[in-house]
Amino acid sequence: MDKLQPYFRKAQDFLRVFYTKRGKNGMAQVAALSFGLLYLQYQIRKYNGWLKKKSVTNEHIFITGGASGIGRNMAIRFAKLGAKISIVDVNSEALQKVVEEINKTYGEKTAFGAYCDVSDPKSVKNAIQECIDYHKKNIDILINNAGVVSGKQILNNSEAGISKTININTTAHHWTVREVLEKMINNNHGHIVTIASIGGWVGVRGLVDYCASKFGAVGFDESLRFELRAINSKVKTTCICPYFINTGMFDGAKSRFPLLLPILSENYASQRIVNAIFQDEAVVIMPIILNLAIMVKAIFPTCVYDNMMEMFGVSESMDHFKGRALQN
Ligand SMILES: NC(=O)c1ccc[n+]([C@@H]2O[C@H](COP(=O)([O-])OP(=O)(O)OC[C@H]3O[C@@H](n4cnc5c(N)ncnc54)[C@H](O)[C@@H]3O)[C@@H](O)[C@H]2O)c1
Repeated sequence: MDKLQPYFRKAQDFLRVFYTKRGKNGMAQVAALSFGLLYLQYQIRKYNGWLKKKSVTNEHIFITGGASGIGRNMAIRFAKLGAKISIVDVNSEALQKVVEEINKTYGEKTAFGAYCDVSDPKSVKNAIQECIDYHKKNIDILINNAGVVSGKQILNNSEAGISKTININTTAHHWTVREVLEKMINNNHGHIVTIASIGGWVGVRGLVDYCASKFGAVGFDESLRFELRAINSKVKTTCICPYFINTGMFDGAKSRFPLLLPILSENYASQRIVNAIFQDEAVVIMPIILNLAIMVKAIFPTCVYDNMMEMFGVSESMDHFKGRALQN
């Protein structure tokens, strides 16, 4: 501390001179600027994954919809870091390929795969028990990632299609979380990750059922976070809200200004999500610029927001959507 004394004295002298010259307003400007710079450097560190990270070695990570896209990508990344991986999916063939790929690269019993339709509570219960029995460990990190999109406007969609989207993208989160949360709370350890979407904050033409389901997922995450806060639990929650990712799920969707609002790459999005989990981030909007849309929506009249979304081409982004076939 003694070594720092001269620096403290210099800082005090600087502030005294500054105050004499600029008065209270000047001090307020300096305080605001310092706060701004501190906040900016924190955001940069967070965005690049430079904050303090927790270890996932030997943690049991359970990923729904892990047979393809970002689910598969995250499973491989976590396996590389020494975690025990469980992936579940309705696509058994693709699921088995991912399990084999991980076990071949990172050790024989690193990954386990089980068939699971997340919209069916019984299927969820059985799959979770199978995974716990296989790894002989309760689930430490649950990633609710399985999702579907119809890409149909409301009148062109079917009752079955609409129900399927809501059941898989929102209701299923209740089934998985109800299976694991009690043990997490009792152990005061665990993490529930909700893979939502920017469609959980802003509505898009052609995505009525999808946005409804993702607004639900965002609300699910936020309410769960408050339930955990109320009991001072150390169980963490993370809600991920990405723009389009090039996994194939949203094939054909377009960004009018790709430089400003790029379609995210699967690798980038997966690494960002893994970092967010490591850093116990509560909510991630990506790319970061989309926070502006949320701010405009919260502050300005609806007509300003609506015009902005149309100007940036967000509302027409689904006009050439092809996607993957939704099996009804
Ligand atoms: N791709 C994007 O542009 C994008 C953007 C924002 C959010 N997301 C979200 O990210 C998540 C992953 O998307 P992705 O791009 O990797 O898509 P993806 O289609 O590659 O992966 C989704 C996986 O979920 C599985 N699945 C579907 N229904 C299921 C069910 N009933 N039970 C279990 N598994 C089921 C599929 O078989 C598939 O393996 C989804 O929740 C999606 O809504 C994707």
